[in-house]
Amino acid sequence: MRSRLALSLAIAVMATFTACKVGSPGSVEQGVMKEVKKNVTIGGKNDQNPAPDNQASIDEGKGHFGHHCQICHGLDGQNTGVPFAQQMSPPVADLKSNDIQAYTDGQLHWIIANGIAPSGMPAWHGILEDDEMWKIVRFIRHLPPKGSLGEPDVFKEEEEEHKQMESGAAGHQHAGGAEPAHHHH
Ligand code: HEC
Repeated sequence: MRSRLALSLAIAVMATFTACKVGSPGSVEQGVMKEVKKNVTIGGKNDQNPAPDNQASIDEGKGHFGHHCQICHGLDGQNTGVPFAQQMSPPVADLKSNDIQAYTDGQLHWIIANGIAPSGMPAWHGILEDDEMWKIVRFIRHLPPKGSLGEPDVFKEEEEEHKQMESGAAGHQHAGGAEPAHHHH
C-alpha cells in the first residue's frame, strides 16, 4: 500500500520537475525517487557500450572525467576533496558505490547524457561526444582506490577558505539545492 502510493506520488512529483526543471525534492521524495529512478526514469538499460573494453578507453574516459566531472565527483569519482559533495541535495553520488555500479553501462551512459533532474547532476549531451561518454562509463567501471588521485587543484587552492566556510556555515545549507556548483568568484 504505502509503496504504491509513494510510487504514484513520486511519478507525479517527477513529472512536475521534468516539466519545469525547478524546485528541490524534500527528503521523502528523495527516498522515493531513488527507488523509482532505476525502474522508471533511467533509460538506456539495454544499450551496449560500443567503446572497446580496454585500457585505452579507460584512460581516455579518465581524461574526460578529469575535465568535466571532477569538480563535483573528485578525480577518483568518490568525491575525494570535494568540500560541498555532502551539502548538495541530494549529495553527490559515490560512483564506486554498489548503487551506482548496479546500473548497466547503458544506464550510466543515459545518466551522463541526460543528467538527473531535479538534482545537481547536469546533462552532458551536446557538450560531450557520445563516444566520450561511453569511455567515461568504462572509467567508472574501473575507478581507482579512493583518494589515490589526490584532490582537485581548484579546491586545494581554496582549502583554507573552505575550511572556514564549513565550520562557519553548518546551518547554512542552500535550501534550493538544485544549483550546486556555486563557484563564482
Ligand atoms: C555540478 C556537479 C556535478 C558535475 C559537474 C557532475 N555531476 Fe554527476 N552527480 C552530481 C550529483 C549531485 C549527483 C547525485 C544525483 C542524484 O542522486 O540524484 C550525481 C550523480 C551522478 C551519477 C549517479 C546517478 C544516480 O543515479 O545516482 C553518475 C553516474 C554521475 N553523476 C556521473 C557524472 C559524470 C560522468 C560527470 C561528468 C561528465 C558528472 N557526473 C558531472 C553532480 C555532478
